[in-house]
Amino acid sequence: MNQARVAGYEVVSRQDFSDVTFLLEVQHPQLARAARPGQFVIVMASEHGERIPLTIADYDRERGTVTLVIQAVGKTTREMQRDCRVGTRLVALVGPMGVPSHIGKARKVLCVGGGLGVAPVYPQARGYKESGAYVIGILGFRNRDLMFWEDKFRATCDELIVCTDDGSAGIKGLVTEGIRLAISKHRDIDECVAIGPPVMMKGCAEATRSSGIRTIVSLNPVMVDGTGMCGGCRVKVGETVKFACVDGPDFDGHLVDFDDLMFRLQRYRATELAATERFNENCRMRSLTGQPVVAE
Ligand SMILES: Cc1cc2nc3c(=O)[nH]c(=O)nc-3n(C[C@H](O)[C@H](O)[C@H](O)COP(=O)(O)OP(=O)(O)OC[C@H]3O[C@@H](n4cnc5c(N)ncnc54)[C@H](O)[C@@H]3O)c2cc1C
Ligand code: FES
Repeated sequence: MNQARVAGYEVVSRQDFSDVTFLLEVQHPQLARAARPGQFVIVMASEHGERIPLTIADYDRERGTVTLVIQAVGKTTREMQRDCRVGTRLVALVGPMGVPSHIGKARKVLCVGGGLGVAPVYPQARGYKESGAYVIGILGFRNRDLMFWEDKFRATCDELIVCTDDGSAGIKGLVTEGIRLAISKHRDIDECVAIGPPVMMKGCAEATRSSGIRTIVSLNPVMVDGTGMCGGCRVKVGETVKFACVDGPDFDGHLVDFDDLMFRLQRYRATELAATERFNENCRMRSLTGQPVVAE
């Protein structure tokens, strides 16, 4: 019998870490085979949806799945939070994109994740561990309720430092406190990988600068095509301009112009807020009428 191929990529599991952060495990054997630490995908959750970049937070070649960890911050991510349930399908999932992280010959490494950045730094921690390095994980969250994947990191890292802003778990303070603690204990750290909000990565780069520890950050500028054509994701790194989608997203944190990155991330704020407003209004109408509202 000639069976029609079902379009899209099935969500095979979902986990909600908090009110805003959730995990989707998606069936895509080809992508799971090809994925490397540091790479990302471009996702279209629905036919008329926006294309958004998301980091491959994990991949399982045997199960043929990739894992995405998503923070619902605006229209598209909130739509995904609402609609992407087990058994539903993402319309498009393109990748792996970006240059894989360079897991070199470092012997002792800091893997630092702040908030959502904890997810994308996990494949790097595992990659370093597999390469034989001594891995010190440093995870930062605003409070205990927002924590996730502590167990995965404990199973992978040789040491783990958890930091919370309010001291409800681990040490009280930002991940930069954790970095200072690790540097004071270990004088022989070769490398640091830091992933999280730009302001956090900037702080990490400053915390390692005087010790001369090579520091890699994963940049998240607004991306449009993801192929190096539109220039939307350009970032300043030292004296050069790079496109994060094809030259990165990993760059030398001591050379990145973080202020320029943060300025550029704000440029579409008014449009993004308007789209979120429309989304909220549609949700409100839907809950009143019980019917989906089609008005974008
Ligand atoms: C390489 C890369 C990897 C990323 N990985 C993850 C991830 O693993 N999990 C996750 O939750 N988020 C990730 N992001 C950010 C994610 O793409 C945005 O949060 C998402 O596009 C927001 O869309 P929205 O419509 O929900 O929100 P909007 O209201 O449209 O935007 C909210 C904020 O998200 C950022 N943003 C918006 N559109 C884009 C875009 N097209 N490209 C990049 N950033 C955008 C801007 O900072 C914006 O202010 C990544 C971004 C990049 C560049
Ligand atoms: S997203 Fe267009 S050049 Fe990178």
